Amino acid sequence: MPDPAEEWQVARRRKGAARKPKSPQVSSTGSREPLDVERTVKRIRDTVSELRCDDIWQQWKKAASSASWSPPETERLQSVCFGLGSFSSCASARFQLAMLLLLLDAGQIPLKDCSVYDPAFSCGEMDVLRELGLTVLTENEEGKSLATQPTLFYLMHCGKALYNNLLWRNWSVQHLPLMKIIGNSFNGMMDRTVEREFRRDYSYVAQAVSVCEERRLPCPSRLVDVFSDTAVITFPAAGLQRLPQCTWAEPPEPQYQHCSDLEIIQRETHG
Ligand SMILES: C[S@@+](CC[C@H](N)C(=O)[O-])C[C@H]1O[C@@H](n2cnc3c(N)ncnc32)[C@H](O)[C@@H]1O
Repeated sequence: MPDPAEEWQVARRRKGAARKPKSPQVSSTGSREPLDVERTVKRIRDTVSELRCDDIWQQWKKAASSASWSPPETERLQSVCFGLGSFSSCASARFQLAMLLLLLDAGQIPLKDCSVYDPAFSCGEMDVLRELGLTVLTENEEGKSLATQPTLFYLMHCGKALYNNLLWRNWSVQHLPLMKIIGNSFNGMMDRTVEREFRRDYSYVAQAVSVCEERRLPCPSRLVDVFSDTAVITFPAAGLQRLPQCTWAEPPEPQYQHCSDLEIIQRETHG
């Protein structure tokens, strides 16, 4: 078992304060030591075992499964994870990956039906994820992933634009109810952002706040850097009826021309 003192090297943050997404890093080429894939896989499996015995897992399991989400039972669940971070070098990202593996297991989502993407992944990390059985995406969708079947989206401590893009891509009464998001609390984002800018730059998150169902997930103080400010977010159909009809007609793609610090890595084509 890993030494917990080493594992939980977490900065003590003010209670309730959320983690500001760091400026993302592009994957390094050549400067890192090649990753020992076998050793890293074992480390992640050890972390899963450790987390499985922790109270937080029991609490998350209960909260994540009790959220009001009733996708058609005939449809298979899938999962998409964005912005996990460099789990081979960062304990927080490794624990978040371990939590994802537990959630997939509890939700009976086959590992191959979980797609993961982060532009920060090194080649070695992608090999580790494939070795674990997950599907590694290689294209930067900027979070614009369409839920064509019931989908658990897992976005831990990601930039607001990633959530906003995800909502935009699924902005219809057909697609939003197919989504369950485990990620930063939308209410938390709203509280920490100047209202005018929140509505202008992240309009889909701003509209979703009032109609989604958000259940905060517990986070003990020792895990504050790993699981703080996290919620299970669903979109019950009844809530969506409260939005004016005009919101659904040709929703404009987010542009972010006013954002100086977008917090996400965009596709090359943005120039
Ligand atoms: C603040 S970090 C969070 C990392 C990790 N989840 C944690 O809590 O330590 C935000 C992550 O989002 C990733 N990211 C940025 N743009 C992205 C994109 N277009 N698609 C997926 N992930 C992206 C970054 O590379 C980075 O790993």
